[in-house]
Amino acid sequence: MSDRTLEQPLDELQIFLDIATEAAMAAGAVLQSFWGKLDSIEEKGRPGDLVTNADKAAEAVILEILRRHVPHHNILAEESGALGGKPSKYRWAIDPLDGTTNYAHQFPFFATSIGLLIDGVPSVGVVFNPFTQELFRGATGLGATYNRQSIGVSKTQELEKSLLVTGFAYDRRETSDNNYAEFCHLTHLTQGVRRSGSASVDLAYVACGRLDGYWERGLSPWDVSAGIVLVREAGGRVTAYDGSPFDLESGRILATNTAIHDALSAELLQVQAR
Ligand code: IPD
Ligand code: CA
Ligand code: CA
Repeated sequence: MSDRTLEQPLDELQIFLDIATEAAMAAGAVLQSFWGKLDSIEEKGRPGDLVTNADKAAEAVILEILRRHVPHHNILAEESGALGGKPSKYRWAIDPLDGTTNYAHQFPFFATSIGLLIDGVPSVGVVFNPFTQELFRGATGLGATYNRQSIGVSKTQELEKSLLVTGFAYDRRETSDNNYAEFCHLTHLTQGVRRSGSASVDLAYVACGRLDGYWERGLSPWDVSAGIVLVREAGGRVTAYDGSPFDLESGRILATNTAIHDALSAELLQVQAR
């Protein structure tokens, strides 16, 4: 478990964790109801950045649940933007459907991701894939669970024996900082690099030891806030690529089982220095 930078009563965190779980499961039911029946798939701006009626409907039920339980908290939701606006140390970061491209193609790898930032620090996280009924939960000081069973990161010690995951942001056609070189380099060095298409599930899989490490750029707070809590509470490490403290606004994350962290960081920096 991680050190808590700011002491937050554990019973209060448990209440927020249960609220996040209620919201994620309700959103999951919405996503299941739209599965294979989408009547609206739009591009939001960049090619490939999709939004569907399922994203919007799932977000609506999450917002309704949060407004009912915690009306004074601020919210950052992918499809609705920043909501609230009064001073509050609590801000929810919500991705109603993380993995929209997968979902639109009926590739069943996606999740609802709900994180709570307390004074800017990811402190509660729930990632729920309604298709597989996999529920990942975590809160600072309370540990991380998979379907209510305690989880921990993998014990893999060497990069050469690791299975990693990454992703490619929607601006990949417009920038040379597109993660292609890093992907090739680490594909050579490791047992494999997956590209799942759901950042929150990637982090949840690092937390439960299915994957040893994850890196990506171009991310938003709603993609990673929940998963960060899971990884840290499962004994993993989350930083910037260079090992410095993680910055939610940077969009760049390195999350591992801790053991391979420094080695993976060194390889990423080596590629970026070319
Ligand atoms: C995307 C997924 C994907 C990641 C992208 C995200 P979305 O979220 O998490 O894995 O590579 O950067 O934007 O658009 O499906 O919610
Ligand atoms: Ca997302
Ligand atoms: Ca999304």
